[in-house]
Amino acid sequence: TAPPDGPAPGTNFQRVEPNTLDAVVVPKGYEQAVVIRWGDPVLPGAPDFDFDNQTAAAQERQFGFNNDFAALLPIDHLGLAALLVTNHEYTTEEFMFRGYDEANPTEEQVRIAWAAHGLSVLLVTRNWNSGAYRPRTSGFNRRITARTPFVVAGPAAGSDLLKTPDDPTGTRVLGTLNNCAGGVTPWGTILSGEENFNQYFANADQVADPEVRARLARYGMSGTETGRKWERFDSRFDLTEQPNEANRFGWIIEVDPRDPRSSPIKHTALGRFKHEGATIRVADDGRVVAYSGDDEAFEYVYKFISSRKMKKGASRSARRHNMTLLDEGTLYVGRFTGDSPGEIDGSGTLPADGEFDGTGEWLPLASGDRSFVPGMTAEEVYVFTREAADRVGGTKMDRPEDIQPHPRTGRVYFALTKNSARGKEGFPAADEANPRTGNKHGQVVELEEERGNALATTFHWRLLLVCGDPNSPDTYFAGFPKDQVSPISSPDNVAFDHHGNLWVSTDSAGALGINDGLYAVPLEGSRRGDLKLFLTVPRGGETCGPVIGDKVVTVCVQHPGEVDGASADNPASNWPDGGDNRPRPSVVAVWKPGRHGLASIG
Ligand code: FEO
Ligand code: CA
Ligand code: CA
Ligand code: CA
Repeated sequence: TAPPDGPAPGTNFQRVEPNTLDAVVVPKGYEQAVVIRWGDPVLPGAPDFDFDNQTAAAQERQFGFNNDFAALLPIDHLGLAALLVTNHEYTTEEFMFRGYDEANPTEEQVRIAWAAHGLSVLLVTRNWNSGAYRPRTSGFNRRITARTPFVVAGPAAGSDLLKTPDDPTGTRVLGTLNNCAGGVTPWGTILSGEENFNQYFANADQVADPEVRARLARYGMSGTETGRKWERFDSRFDLTEQPNEANRFGWIIEVDPRDPRSSPIKHTALGRFKHEGATIRVADDGRVVAYSGDDEAFEYVYKFISSRKMKKGASRSARRHNMTLLDEGTLYVGRFTGDSPGEIDGSGTLPADGEFDGTGEWLPLASGDRSFVPGMTAEEVYVFTREAADRVGGTKMDRPEDIQPHPRTGRVYFALTKNSARGKEGFPAADEANPRTGNKHGQVVELEEERGNALATTFHWRLLLVCGDPNSPDTYFAGFPKDQVSPISSPDNVAFDHHGNLWVSTDSAGALGINDGLYAVPLEGSRRGDLKLFLTVPRGGETCGPVIGDKVVTVCVQHPGEVDGASADNPASNWPDGGDNRPRPSVVAVWKPGRHGLASIG
């Protein structure tokens, strides 16, 4: 039975029942509104969205496809005006075009896809008595696409490994791709992770040099044509023409949303892999620490410690300095060691000491031009970071997703979304941090640096949540009574409210037969582990980019209607426009009306 006291502060809402509705479902007494949809105007002169007559010129000025990460940066003291920054992770052309011929996309369709990738920066405002943020035209508004010029910074900038015929300097890259999660830096910029960039590069199998081919394969590049066929319209996506172009993706990028003319940056010191995102914690001495996960089965968790210190204040010169902090420092990979040796059988049953937990180390990979990895130069460590982590013996995890330090306690929380291959024949066995064979539902890790010191190279960790159906014996909710909690599968993004509760959004709860959603879970006190479902998204959609404000929660609804067999000709969702409209990825705001303006979210 549950503890006798009421809900933890910030979680005082009536939990949403898991469902499969084609709607965003919020708790009783709460309201919601769509903030912006794919195709809505962002830049001046953008035409209204017209599904059947979309053009690349329109898309370049409109909100992109498949919004994933979102940040809201307040620009007034009341939070009524804010810059909304979103990632546009990827395109699914069969949902964007009626009668799409995947074997023969037109050049215009490809150019629309290029313009629908990247990021958007958009001014949004709301009234004091409503949470319904509305898009505004402003000088801040910006679209970054697959063709926007980026500056490469850090120790691998200018490396031969990054040089191409179009860029013999190895310092200028066109565009960003597959931006998944991200983070807001303490200096007010946005970090964003280039995740599954491999899918854009064709003909890896025909690359002549076997070493180059092996390195492409380590990042998932093999085969011939790509699904989108971009290589037919721009040779940089053909690895036989420009094998180094793929080395120019897979980085953490930084964007200054307050300076629409600034060049976005690719930070090579944070390594190259399928970055879910990156988030920052500031150490007591002012140096900054960045955490980042590599989202693929049996990949790693990384940490970076800067050599230089953050300048305080919001001035432009402080921001300019702070935007160089991620270019000089030391990159580490995580090794997780359980404290219950011999007891992990892959069933998910708790070990004898009652917790999946243990200790860990951050193993150094490179610092500036110094490599700590035998047989690899520093440049190779940054560009082929997975190979470096393999060589030093990092711990292969169950798909590291979003990773965020708690703003008050400094503890670090991250989602391991799932890994169906765990423990299967030919794959690594279950271990205490990844304790289930054929892990279908994922887990959430709580990590505490040694003595709470952000600069520590050793840590303690424990599993906060082992996700799934609470009725199943292989689930765990920080010891909270399981008959009280909501079911959850495939945790992806993590965020915090101002009470210090953790919020978790999911990607693929279909593994439990329910729609994805956003959950809140207290981390302290008698309600620790009391996981509550706050909202669900329409069928086929993923819940991401949660921003948990005091009065308004915003989430991204990514790929609504993306279910097997669906397409623009056979839509599985009509959200958000209803009728027989095609689904549109959108940002949604949720709030609770109060007597004087808005009530607190929970
Ligand atoms: Fe794009 Fe790792 O989820
Ligand atoms: Ca243990
Ligand atoms: Ca994600
Ligand atoms: Ca995911």
